[in-house]
Amino acid sequence: MVLHKGKATDPDRKGGANPLHAGAYPALAARIRLPHDSLAEEPLPPDTALQLVRDELMLDGNARLNLATFVTTWMEPQARELMAECVDKNMIDKDEYPQTAELERRCVNILADLWHAPDPLAIMGCSTTGSSEACMLAGMALKRRWSKLGRAGKPNLVMGANVQVCWEKFCEYWEVEPRLVPMDGDRFHLTADEAIARCDENTIGVVAILGSTFDGSYEPVAEIAAALDGLQERSGWDIPVHVDGASGAMIAPFLDPELVWDFRLPRVASINTSGHKYGLVYPGVGWVVWRAKEALPEELVFNVNYLGGDMPTFALNFSRPGAEVAAQYYTFVRLGREGFRAVQQASRDVATQLADGIAELGPFELLTRGDELPVFAFTTKADVDSFDVFDVSRRLRERGWLVPAYTFPENRTDLAVLRIVVRNGFTHDLADLLLADLRRLLPELDHGPRPRTAFHH
Ligand SMILES: Cc1ncc(COP(=O)(O)O)c(C=O)c1O
Repeated sequence: MVLHKGKATDPDRKGGANPLHAGAYPALAARIRLPHDSLAEEPLPPDTALQLVRDELMLDGNARLNLATFVTTWMEPQARELMAECVDKNMIDKDEYPQTAELERRCVNILADLWHAPDPLAIMGCSTTGSSEACMLAGMALKRRWSKLGRAGKPNLVMGANVQVCWEKFCEYWEVEPRLVPMDGDRFHLTADEAIARCDENTIGVVAILGSTFDGSYEPVAEIAAALDGLQERSGWDIPVHVDGASGAMIAPFLDPELVWDFRLPRVASINTSGHKYGLVYPGVGWVVWRAKEALPEELVFNVNYLGGDMPTFALNFSRPGAEVAAQYYTFVRLGREGFRAVQQASRDVATQLADGIAELGPFELLTRGDELPVFAFTTKADVDSFDVFDVSRRLRERGWLVPAYTFPENRTDLAVLRIVVRNGFTHDLADLLLADLRRLLPELDHGPRPRTAFHH
Protein backbone atom coordinates (compact mmCIF):
# COMPACT_ATOMS: atom_id res chain seq x y z
CA MET A 1 0.00 0.00 0.00
CA VAL A 2 1.00 3.62 -0.30
CA LEU A 3 3.57 4.46 2.34
CA HIS A 4 2.05 7.46 4.03
CA LYS A 5 3.96 10.18 5.81
CA GLY A 6 2.77 12.11 8.83
CA LYS A 7 0.96 15.37 8.05
CA ALA A 8 0.33 18.32 10.34
CA THR A 9 -3.29 19.14 11.13
CA ASP A 10 -4.68 22.04 9.14
CA PRO A 11 -5.24 24.64 11.91
CA ASP A 12 -8.02 26.31 9.89
CA ARG A 13 -10.06 23.18 9.37
CA LYS A 14 -13.57 24.09 10.42
CA GLY A 15 -15.33 20.75 10.67
CA GLY A 16 -19.07 20.69 11.30
CA ALA A 17 -21.35 18.14 9.68
CA ASN A 18 -24.72 18.45 7.97
CA PRO A 19 -27.13 19.17 10.86
CA LEU A 20 -29.47 16.46 9.56
CA HIS A 21 -26.78 13.81 9.78
CA ALA A 22 -26.57 13.84 13.54
CA GLY A 23 -30.14 12.64 14.03
CA ALA A 24 -31.96 14.79 16.57
CA TYR A 25 -28.79 16.60 17.65
CA PRO A 26 -27.88 19.48 15.32
CA ALA A 27 -25.62 20.74 18.12
CA LEU A 28 -23.64 17.51 17.87
CA ALA A 29 -23.32 18.00 14.10
CA ALA A 30 -21.78 21.41 14.66
CA ARG A 31 -19.10 19.89 16.92
CA ILE A 32 -18.09 17.06 14.58
CA ARG A 33 -14.60 17.24 13.16
CA LEU A 34 -13.66 14.16 11.21
CA PRO A 35 -10.50 12.68 12.75
CA HIS A 36 -7.55 13.20 10.41
CA ASP A 37 -4.70 12.35 12.72
CA SER A 38 -5.98 11.50 16.19
CA LEU A 39 -9.15 9.91 17.52
CA ALA A 40 -12.00 12.14 18.67
CA GLU A 41 -12.84 11.82 22.35
CA GLU A 42 -16.52 11.04 21.84
CA PRO A 43 -18.20 8.26 19.83
CA LEU A 44 -20.79 9.08 17.16
CA PRO A 45 -24.05 7.29 16.38
CA PRO A 46 -23.50 4.63 13.69
CA ASP A 47 -25.74 6.30 11.07
CA THR A 48 -23.89 9.58 11.48
CA ALA A 49 -20.51 7.87 11.16
CA LEU A 50 -21.72 5.99 8.09
CA GLN A 51 -22.97 9.12 6.38
CA LEU A 52 -19.79 11.04 7.09
CA VAL A 53 -17.54 8.36 5.64
CA ARG A 54 -19.84 7.83 2.65
CA ASP A 55 -19.77 11.54 1.89
CA GLU A 56 -15.96 11.52 1.76
CA LEU A 57 -15.96 8.53 -0.57
CA MET A 58 -18.07 10.40 -3.14
CA LEU A 59 -14.77 11.78 -4.38
CA ASP A 60 -13.61 8.38 -5.60
CA GLY A 61 -14.11 7.65 -9.28
CA ASN A 62 -16.86 5.31 -10.47
CA ALA A 63 -15.30 1.84 -10.37
CA ARG A 64 -17.32 0.59 -13.37
CA LEU A 65 -15.93 3.38 -15.58
CA ASN A 66 -12.39 2.54 -14.47
CA LEU A 67 -10.86 1.15 -17.64
CA ALA A 68 -7.42 1.22 -16.01
CA THR A 69 -7.88 -1.67 -13.64
CA PHE A 70 -7.75 -5.40 -14.27
CA VAL A 71 -9.56 -5.95 -11.01
CA THR A 72 -13.21 -7.00 -10.83
CA THR A 73 -15.61 -4.10 -10.39
CA TRP A 74 -18.91 -5.93 -10.70
CA MET A 75 -20.26 -9.14 -9.24
CA GLU A 76 -23.79 -10.47 -9.06
CA PRO A 77 -25.86 -9.52 -6.00
CA GLN A 78 -25.83 -13.19 -4.95
CA ALA A 79 -22.04 -13.10 -4.80
CA ARG A 80 -22.13 -9.91 -2.73
CA GLU A 81 -24.59 -11.57 -0.38
CA LEU A 82 -22.33 -14.58 0.03
CA MET A 83 -19.32 -12.37 0.65
CA ALA A 84 -21.19 -10.37 3.28
CA GLU A 85 -22.02 -13.66 5.02
CA CYS A 86 -18.34 -14.66 5.07
CA VAL A 87 -16.54 -11.41 5.94
CA ASP A 88 -16.19 -12.51 9.55
CA LYS A 89 -14.37 -15.74 8.69
CA ASN A 90 -10.60 -15.78 8.96
CA MET A 91 -9.06 -18.08 6.35
CA ILE A 92 -6.31 -19.17 8.71
CA ASP A 93 -8.74 -20.53 11.32
CA LYS A 94 -8.94 -23.87 9.60
CA ASP A 95 -10.25 -25.50 12.78
CA GLU A 96 -13.19 -23.13 13.09
CA TYR A 97 -14.01 -22.86 9.40
CA PRO A 98 -13.14 -26.25 7.93
CA GLN A 99 -15.62 -25.88 5.09
CA THR A 100 -14.04 -22.62 3.89
CA ALA A 101 -10.74 -24.52 3.86
CA GLU A 102 -12.43 -27.24 1.84
CA LEU A 103 -13.71 -24.69 -0.71
CA GLU A 104 -10.16 -23.35 -1.03
CA ARG A 105 -8.88 -26.88 -1.67
CA ARG A 106 -11.52 -27.41 -4.35
CA CYS A 107 -10.58 -24.13 -6.05
CA VAL A 108 -6.90 -25.17 -6.16
CA ASN A 109 -7.88 -28.50 -7.72
CA ILE A 110 -10.14 -26.83 -10.27
CA LEU A 111 -7.35 -24.44 -11.31
CA ALA A 112 -4.79 -27.26 -11.53
CA ASP A 113 -7.22 -29.12 -13.80
CA LEU A 114 -7.84 -26.02 -15.95
CA TRP A 115 -4.07 -25.66 -16.30
CA HIS A 116 -3.61 -29.32 -17.26
CA ALA A 117 -1.60 -30.52 -14.26
CA PRO A 118 -0.42 -33.97 -15.41
CA ASP A 119 -0.87 -35.56 -11.98
CA PRO A 120 -3.72 -33.97 -10.00
CA LEU A 121 -2.65 -35.83 -6.88
CA ALA A 122 0.88 -34.40 -7.01
CA ILE A 123 0.03 -30.69 -7.19
CA MET A 124 0.46 -28.18 -4.40
CA GLY A 125 -1.37 -24.85 -4.34
CA CYS A 126 -2.94 -22.18 -2.19
CA SER A 127 -4.92 -18.99 -2.20
CA THR A 128 -3.21 -15.65 -1.60
CA THR A 129 -4.20 -12.01 -1.29
CA GLY A 130 -3.56 -11.52 -5.01
CA SER A 131 -1.03 -12.27 -7.71
CA SER A 132 1.68 -10.23 -6.00
CA GLU A 133 1.76 -12.53 -3.00
CA ALA A 134 1.39 -15.53 -5.30
CA CYS A 135 4.43 -14.36 -7.33
CA MET A 136 6.44 -13.84 -4.12
CA LEU A 137 5.68 -17.42 -3.05
CA ALA A 138 6.51 -18.80 -6.50
CA GLY A 139 9.75 -16.79 -6.56
CA MET A 140 10.70 -18.04 -3.08
CA ALA A 141 10.18 -21.62 -4.22
CA LEU A 142 12.38 -21.01 -7.29
CA LYS A 143 15.10 -19.46 -5.17
CA ARG A 144 15.07 -22.22 -2.55
CA ARG A 145 15.15 -24.90 -5.23
CA TRP A 146 18.21 -23.21 -6.76
CA SER A 147 19.98 -22.75 -3.42
CA LYS A 148 19.68 -26.48 -2.77
CA LEU A 149 21.80 -27.07 -5.88
CA GLY A 150 24.71 -25.63 -3.87
CA ARG A 151 25.98 -23.29 -6.57
CA ALA A 152 28.24 -20.36 -5.76
CA GLY A 153 27.22 -16.87 -6.90
CA LYS A 154 24.24 -14.57 -6.70
CA PRO A 155 20.89 -15.92 -7.87
CA ASN A 156 19.21 -14.18 -10.80
CA LEU A 157 15.75 -14.21 -12.34
CA VAL A 158 15.22 -13.65 -16.07
CA MET A 159 12.11 -11.79 -17.27
CA GLY A 160 10.97 -9.04 -19.62
CA ALA A 161 11.17 -5.38 -18.61
CA ASN A 162 7.39 -5.45 -19.00
CA VAL A 163 6.93 -7.51 -15.80
CA GLN A 164 4.57 -6.16 -13.20
CA VAL A 165 6.31 -4.39 -10.33
CA CYS A 166 5.75 -7.36 -7.99
CA TRP A 167 8.66 -9.17 -9.67
CA GLU A 168 11.03 -6.28 -9.10
CA LYS A 169 9.82 -6.24 -5.49
CA PHE A 170 10.48 -9.95 -5.21
CA CYS A 171 14.04 -9.49 -6.43
CA GLU A 172 14.69 -6.60 -4.06
CA TYR A 173 13.16 -8.22 -0.99
CA TRP A 174 14.73 -11.65 -1.54
CA GLU A 175 18.08 -10.43 -2.88
CA VAL A 176 17.84 -11.91 -6.34
CA GLU A 177 19.39 -10.11 -9.32
CA PRO A 178 16.62 -9.09 -11.73
CA ARG A 179 17.73 -9.73 -15.33
CA LEU A 180 15.24 -7.62 -17.20
CA VAL A 181 15.15 -8.01 -20.96
CA PRO A 182 14.56 -4.51 -22.30
CA MET A 183 11.95 -3.72 -24.92
CA ASP A 184 13.42 -3.10 -28.33
CA GLY A 185 11.71 -1.36 -31.25
CA ASP A 186 8.36 -3.06 -31.71
CA ARG A 187 9.23 -5.95 -29.38
CA PHE A 188 7.31 -5.17 -26.20
CA HIS A 189 7.75 -8.43 -24.31
CA LEU A 190 10.06 -11.35 -23.65
CA THR A 191 11.13 -13.69 -26.45
CA ALA A 192 12.83 -17.08 -26.21
CA ASP A 193 16.18 -15.96 -27.66
CA GLU A 194 16.39 -12.91 -25.43
CA ALA A 195 15.54 -15.00 -22.36
CA ILE A 196 18.12 -17.73 -22.82
CA ALA A 197 20.81 -15.21 -23.72
CA ARG A 198 20.60 -14.00 -20.10
CA CYS A 199 20.49 -17.37 -18.34
CA ASP A 200 23.40 -18.96 -16.52
CA GLU A 201 23.93 -21.56 -13.80
CA ASN A 202 22.62 -19.12 -11.18
CA THR A 203 19.32 -18.43 -12.93
CA ILE A 204 16.60 -19.53 -10.52
CA GLY A 205 13.92 -19.36 -13.20
CA VAL A 206 12.42 -17.52 -16.14
CA VAL A 207 9.14 -15.65 -15.69
CA ALA A 208 6.82 -15.71 -18.69
CA ILE A 209 3.75 -13.49 -18.58
CA LEU A 210 0.32 -14.34 -19.88
CA GLY A 211 -0.30 -11.56 -20.72
CA SER A 212 1.62 -8.39 -20.37
CA THR A 213 0.31 -5.66 -18.10
CA PHE A 214 1.55 -3.05 -20.55
CA ASP A 215 -0.35 -4.10 -23.66
CA GLY A 216 -2.25 -7.34 -22.98
CA SER A 217 -0.05 -9.48 -25.25
CA TYR A 218 0.80 -13.10 -24.40
CA GLU A 219 4.46 -13.97 -24.06
CA PRO A 220 5.52 -17.08 -26.04
CA VAL A 221 5.67 -19.50 -23.11
CA ALA A 222 6.08 -22.65 -25.24
CA GLU A 223 8.94 -21.12 -27.24
CA ILE A 224 10.67 -19.99 -24.06
CA ALA A 225 10.28 -23.48 -22.57
CA ALA A 226 11.64 -25.11 -25.75
CA ALA A 227 14.63 -22.77 -25.79
CA LEU A 228 15.34 -23.68 -22.16
CA ASP A 229 15.13 -27.40 -23.09
CA GLY A 230 17.81 -26.73 -25.71
CA LEU A 231 19.90 -24.79 -23.21
CA GLN A 232 19.70 -27.68 -20.75
CA GLU A 233 20.94 -30.09 -23.42
CA ARG A 234 23.91 -27.85 -24.12
CA SER A 235 24.81 -26.73 -20.59
CA GLY A 236 23.12 -29.06 -18.12
CA TRP A 237 21.28 -26.14 -16.45
CA ASP A 238 17.72 -27.15 -15.66
CA ILE A 239 15.94 -23.79 -15.41
CA PRO A 240 12.24 -23.82 -14.53
CA VAL A 241 9.60 -21.47 -15.92
CA HIS A 242 7.04 -19.71 -13.77
CA VAL A 243 4.02 -18.44 -15.69
CA ASP A 244 2.62 -15.19 -14.33
CA GLY A 245 -0.92 -15.70 -15.52
CA ALA A 246 -2.33 -12.92 -13.32
CA SER A 247 -4.90 -12.21 -16.02
CA GLY A 248 -4.33 -14.71 -18.85
CA ALA A 249 -4.48 -17.89 -16.78
CA MET A 250 -8.23 -17.25 -16.49
CA ILE A 251 -8.64 -16.26 -20.15
CA ALA A 252 -6.56 -18.71 -22.19
CA PRO A 253 -8.13 -21.92 -20.77
CA PHE A 254 -11.53 -20.77 -22.04
CA LEU A 255 -10.75 -18.82 -25.20
CA ASP A 256 -7.45 -20.28 -26.44
CA PRO A 257 -7.64 -24.00 -25.60
CA GLU A 258 -5.14 -24.82 -28.36
CA LEU A 259 -2.48 -22.50 -26.97
CA VAL A 260 0.01 -24.59 -24.99
CA TRP A 261 1.34 -22.42 -22.18
CA ASP A 262 0.58 -24.31 -18.94
CA PHE A 263 1.54 -27.55 -17.16
CA ARG A 264 1.36 -29.32 -20.53
CA LEU A 265 4.89 -27.93 -20.85
CA PRO A 266 7.03 -30.04 -18.48
CA ARG A 267 9.28 -27.04 -17.83
CA VAL A 268 6.46 -25.00 -16.29
CA ALA A 269 6.96 -25.45 -12.54
CA SER A 270 4.29 -23.07 -11.25
CA ILE A 271 1.49 -20.75 -12.34
CA ASN A 272 -0.25 -17.88 -10.57
CA THR A 273 -3.43 -16.01 -11.28
CA SER A 274 -5.48 -13.25 -9.67
CA GLY A 275 -8.89 -14.52 -8.69
CA HIS A 276 -9.83 -10.86 -8.52
CA LYS A 277 -9.01 -10.16 -12.17
CA TYR A 278 -10.44 -12.45 -14.83
CA GLY A 279 -11.28 -14.92 -12.04
CA LEU A 280 -14.21 -12.49 -11.68
CA VAL A 281 -14.06 -11.99 -7.89
CA TYR A 282 -13.85 -8.72 -5.96
CA PRO A 283 -10.38 -8.00 -4.52
CA GLY A 284 -8.34 -9.57 -3.01
CA VAL A 285 -7.73 -13.14 -3.91
CA GLY A 286 -4.98 -14.82 -5.89
CA TRP A 287 -3.84 -18.36 -6.52
CA VAL A 288 -0.60 -20.21 -7.09
CA VAL A 289 -0.20 -23.84 -8.09
CA TRP A 290 2.97 -25.94 -8.33
CA ARG A 291 2.97 -28.91 -10.67
CA ALA A 292 4.43 -31.23 -8.00
CA LYS A 293 5.96 -31.33 -4.55
CA GLU A 294 9.49 -31.20 -5.99
CA ALA A 295 8.83 -27.67 -7.28
CA LEU A 296 8.00 -26.41 -3.78
CA PRO A 297 10.79 -27.19 -1.29
CA GLU A 298 9.22 -28.53 1.87
CA GLU A 299 11.15 -26.22 4.24
CA LEU A 300 8.96 -23.36 3.00
CA VAL A 301 5.81 -25.07 4.16
CA PHE A 302 4.59 -24.42 7.71
CA ASN A 303 2.16 -26.71 9.45
CA VAL A 304 -0.73 -25.27 11.41
CA ASN A 305 -2.84 -27.31 13.73
CA TYR A 306 -6.04 -28.36 11.96
CA LEU A 307 -8.78 -30.47 13.52
CA GLY A 308 -6.19 -32.18 15.64
CA GLY A 309 -3.94 -32.81 12.65
CA ASP A 310 -1.44 -30.77 10.70
CA MET A 311 -2.45 -28.48 7.84
CA PRO A 312 0.44 -27.40 5.58
CA THR A 313 0.38 -23.67 4.74
CA PHE A 314 2.50 -21.38 2.58
CA ALA A 315 1.72 -17.66 2.87
CA LEU A 316 3.36 -14.36 3.70
CA ASN A 317 0.62 -13.17 6.02
CA PHE A 318 -1.48 -15.02 8.55
CA SER A 319 -5.05 -13.72 8.87
CA ARG A 320 -7.13 -13.14 5.74
CA PRO A 321 -10.83 -12.90 5.06
CA GLY A 322 -12.56 -16.02 3.81
CA ALA A 323 -15.13 -14.09 1.76
CA GLU A 324 -13.10 -13.92 -1.46
CA VAL A 325 -12.35 -17.63 -1.45
CA ALA A 326 -16.05 -18.42 -0.97
CA ALA A 327 -16.80 -15.98 -3.80
CA GLN A 328 -14.24 -17.66 -6.06
CA TYR A 329 -15.87 -20.99 -5.46
CA TYR A 330 -19.24 -19.34 -6.18
CA THR A 331 -17.99 -18.20 -9.61
CA PHE A 332 -16.82 -21.74 -10.37
CA VAL A 333 -20.15 -23.24 -9.30
CA ARG A 334 -22.15 -20.51 -11.03
CA LEU A 335 -20.40 -20.37 -14.39
CA GLY A 336 -18.84 -23.72 -15.16
CA ARG A 337 -16.64 -23.88 -18.25
CA GLU A 338 -19.34 -22.67 -20.60
CA GLY A 339 -20.23 -19.68 -18.43
CA PHE A 340 -16.60 -18.63 -18.12
CA ARG A 341 -16.13 -19.04 -21.86
CA ALA A 342 -19.15 -16.84 -22.57
CA VAL A 343 -18.10 -14.12 -20.12
CA GLN A 344 -14.48 -13.97 -21.32
CA GLN A 345 -15.52 -14.13 -25.00
CA ALA A 346 -17.90 -11.22 -24.45
CA SER A 347 -15.02 -9.18 -22.99
CA ARG A 348 -12.74 -10.11 -25.88
CA ASP A 349 -15.42 -9.22 -28.43
CA VAL A 350 -15.96 -5.81 -26.84
CA ALA A 351 -12.18 -5.23 -26.65
CA THR A 352 -11.47 -6.13 -30.27
CA GLN A 353 -14.42 -4.13 -31.61
CA LEU A 354 -13.55 -1.11 -29.50
CA ALA A 355 -9.92 -1.36 -30.63
CA ASP A 356 -11.04 -1.47 -34.29
CA GLY A 357 -13.35 1.52 -33.69
CA ILE A 358 -10.52 3.53 -32.16
CA ALA A 359 -8.21 2.66 -35.06
CA GLU A 360 -10.88 3.91 -37.49
CA LEU A 361 -11.01 7.33 -35.80
CA GLY A 362 -7.81 8.24 -37.63
CA PRO A 363 -5.25 9.75 -35.26
CA PHE A 364 -4.56 6.59 -33.28
CA GLU A 365 -2.36 3.58 -33.88
CA LEU A 366 -2.96 0.27 -32.11
CA LEU A 367 -0.09 -1.58 -30.44
CA THR A 368 -2.35 -4.51 -29.63
CA ARG A 369 -5.99 -5.19 -30.51
CA GLY A 370 -7.48 -6.97 -27.50
CA ASP A 371 -7.41 -10.43 -29.09
CA GLU A 372 -5.24 -12.01 -26.38
CA LEU A 373 -6.10 -10.45 -23.03
CA PRO A 374 -9.21 -8.30 -23.61
CA VAL A 375 -6.84 -5.38 -23.16
CA PHE A 376 -5.25 -3.13 -25.75
CA ALA A 377 -2.81 -0.27 -25.92
CA PHE A 378 -2.78 2.51 -28.50
CA THR A 379 -0.87 5.67 -29.16
CA THR A 380 -1.13 8.71 -31.38
CA LYS A 381 0.20 8.45 -34.93
CA ALA A 382 3.61 9.99 -35.62
CA ASP A 383 2.10 12.93 -37.55
CA VAL A 384 -0.26 13.95 -34.71
CA ASP A 385 1.35 16.89 -32.96
CA SER A 386 -1.63 18.85 -31.65
CA PHE A 387 -2.26 16.51 -28.71
CA ASP A 388 -0.79 13.50 -27.01
CA VAL A 389 -2.09 10.50 -25.09
CA PHE A 390 -1.95 12.40 -21.80
CA ASP A 391 -4.30 15.06 -23.21
CA VAL A 392 -6.71 12.34 -24.32
CA SER A 393 -6.63 10.69 -20.89
CA ARG A 394 -7.29 14.01 -19.15
CA ARG A 395 -10.18 14.93 -21.42
CA LEU A 396 -11.83 11.51 -21.11
CA ARG A 397 -11.66 11.88 -17.35
CA GLU A 398 -13.85 14.95 -17.58
CA ARG A 399 -16.60 12.62 -18.76
CA GLY A 400 -15.86 10.09 -16.01
CA TRP A 401 -13.84 7.59 -18.10
CA LEU A 402 -10.63 6.50 -16.41
CA VAL A 403 -8.23 5.56 -19.23
CA PRO A 404 -4.61 5.70 -18.09
CA ALA A 405 -1.80 7.09 -20.21
CA TYR A 406 1.76 6.05 -19.40
CA THR A 407 5.19 5.70 -20.92
CA PHE A 408 6.82 2.34 -21.65
CA PRO A 409 9.88 1.18 -19.67
CA GLU A 410 13.56 1.73 -20.36
CA ASN A 411 14.57 1.64 -24.00
CA ARG A 412 11.08 2.69 -25.14
CA THR A 413 10.41 5.54 -22.73
CA ASP A 414 9.81 7.59 -25.87
CA LEU A 415 6.58 5.64 -26.37
CA ALA A 416 3.52 6.81 -24.42
CA VAL A 417 0.26 4.89 -24.73
CA LEU A 418 -3.31 4.70 -23.54
CA ARG A 419 -4.49 1.32 -22.29
CA ILE A 420 -8.02 0.01 -22.06
CA VAL A 421 -8.86 -3.04 -19.95
CA VAL A 422 -12.21 -4.56 -20.85
CA ARG A 423 -13.78 -6.53 -18.02
CA ASN A 424 -17.04 -8.31 -17.40
CA GLY A 425 -19.76 -5.68 -17.24
CA PHE A 426 -18.20 -3.39 -19.85
CA THR A 427 -20.72 -3.91 -22.62
CA HIS A 428 -20.83 -3.03 -26.33
CA ASP A 429 -23.19 -0.18 -25.34
CA LEU A 430 -20.68 1.31 -22.91
CA ALA A 431 -17.91 0.85 -25.47
CA ASP A 432 -20.02 2.75 -28.03
CA LEU A 433 -20.50 5.57 -25.52
CA LEU A 434 -16.75 5.74 -24.93
CA LEU A 435 -16.09 5.77 -28.66
CA ALA A 436 -18.68 8.53 -29.17
CA ASP A 437 -17.02 10.62 -26.45
CA LEU A 438 -13.62 10.09 -28.00
CA ARG A 439 -14.96 11.05 -31.43
CA ARG A 440 -16.54 14.20 -29.98
CA LEU A 441 -13.31 15.20 -28.26
CA LEU A 442 -11.07 14.93 -31.28
CA PRO A 443 -11.96 18.24 -32.98
CA GLU A 444 -11.36 20.05 -29.67
CA LEU A 445 -8.05 18.31 -29.12
CA ASP A 446 -7.04 18.87 -32.69
CA HIS A 447 -7.20 22.66 -32.57
CA GLY A 448 -3.61 23.19 -33.67
CA PRO A 449 -0.11 22.42 -32.37
CA ARG A 450 0.22 22.44 -28.60
CA PRO A 451 2.50 25.02 -27.10
CA ARG A 452 5.70 23.17 -26.32
CA THR A 453 7.68 24.22 -23.28
CA ALA A 454 11.14 23.14 -22.35
CA PHE A 455 10.38 23.50 -18.68
CA HIS A 456 8.27 20.85 -16.99
CA HIS A 457 7.14 21.37 -13.43
C1 LIG B 1 1.14 -9.75 -14.99
C2 LIG B 1 0.81 -9.31 -13.60
N1 LIG B 1 1.41 -9.89 -12.55
C3 LIG B 1 1.12 -9.55 -11.27
C4 LIG B 1 0.21 -8.56 -10.99
C5 LIG B 1 -0.11 -8.20 -9.56
O1 LIG B 1 -1.38 -8.68 -9.28
P1 LIG B 1 -2.24 -8.33 -7.98
O2 LIG B 1 -2.78 -6.96 -8.21
O3 LIG B 1 -3.29 -9.39 -7.99
O4 LIG B 1 -1.34 -8.41 -6.79
C6 LIG B 1 -0.45 -7.90 -12.06
C7 LIG B 1 -1.41 -6.81 -11.80
O5 LIG B 1 -1.86 -6.12 -12.69
C8 LIG B 1 -0.14 -8.29 -13.38
O6 LIG B 1 -0.75 -7.71 -14.44
